[in-house]
Parts: sequence; C-alpha cells; structure tokens
Amino acid sequence: MRPIFVTAITATLLAAGAALAHSGVSNPAVKARMHAMMQIADSTKILGAMAKGEAAFDADEARAAAAAIAAHAASVPTLFMAEEHDPKSEALPVIWQEFDTFGQKSEALTLAAAEAAASIETEADLKPALARIGGTCKSCHQDFRKPQ
Ligand code: HEC
Repeated sequence: MRPIFVTAITATLLAAGAALAHSGVSNPAVKARMHAMMQIADSTKILGAMAKGEAAFDADEARAAAAAIAAHAASVPTLFMAEEHDPKSEALPVIWQEFDTFGQKSEALTLAAAEAAASIETEADLKPALARIGGTCKSCHQDFRKPQ
C-alpha cells in the first residue's frame, strides 16, 4: 500500500509542478482559486517530503503544514462559488452543476487536514494522515478538474 501511495502522491505533486506553468491567467477569481490550490499543494509537498524520507520528520512542521492545508481548503467553496472561467483554468463546469458535492469534497479535505493538524505526533502518524489528505485531492480532481 505505502509505496503505491507515495507514488500516487508523487504523481500529484509532479502535476502540481507542471501546473506552476499556469501563468498568464487573466481572470482574478480564477487566479485566486488556483493560488489557493498551489498553497495547498505546497503544504502537501512538505508532508510528502517527510513521508518519503527526503526531509527529516518534524512534528511541529508537519502539523503546521496540515493546518495550512485545512485553512486553504476551508476557503475553497467560497473561492469557487461564482462560475468563473479562464482559458487556462482546469476547472470543469460540472462544479457549478454539482456544487453541493464539490462543497462536500472540500469539506472532506478540510476535515482530513484539520484532524492531521490535531493528531500528528510521530513519524508513524504521517503516512496515514497524508494518505487520507491525498485521497481527498484525488476524489475531487477526478470529478471536477480536467484530466492532467
Ligand atoms: C473540492 C475539490 C478539490 C479538492 C479537495 C482539491 N482540489 Fe486541487 N483543484 C481543484 C480544481 C477544480 C482545480 C482547477 C482550478 C482551476 O484551474 O480553475 C484544482 C487545481 C489544483 C492545482 C493546479 C493549480 C493551478 O495553478 O493550476 C493543484 C496543484 C491542486 N489542485 C492540488 C491539490 C492538492 C494537492 C489537493 C489535496 C491536498 C487538492 N488540490 C484538493 C479542486 C480540488
């Protein structure tokens, strides 16, 4: 399970790196929601690096990263509420047809990250927390974001 999971997270983060090329977005509302996603991705990367042993485990840093994810995730429904478009956006129109489901998936991330922020103490806590967080990214992206 774990190596597969770490691979999945790595793939998510590589996609995140590719997404960094998304400059030139002219719609400020789209820019703001992409920015929130990038912040979420940056904090997830911190957890991923620790989980893979690329960075030393630091409980305070891990909890802070999880708290940052939770804070940004909590703003996702508001950031996406208005149906805003941009040629560079990867958001699928179904977001606004199924906004309740979209909101629930944001909530799932907020909750997973908040619980991680409240519970990570040892290195052993990290991978299950990250797996849960990563699962919520995937669950939303597969329905609501253009395939990468
Ligand atoms: C509730 C749904 C939802 C959740 C949960 C979610 N995302 Fe996203 N994410 C989106 C949507 C929709 C877009 C496309 C936004 C756009 O391009 O307008 C996106 C875009 C992104 C981008 C690209 C940003 C850019 O600049 O183009 C990254 C990186 C990203 N998400 C990472 C993550 C990570 C990492 C997680 C989990 C820790 C996560 N997302 C959780 C819906 C979600």
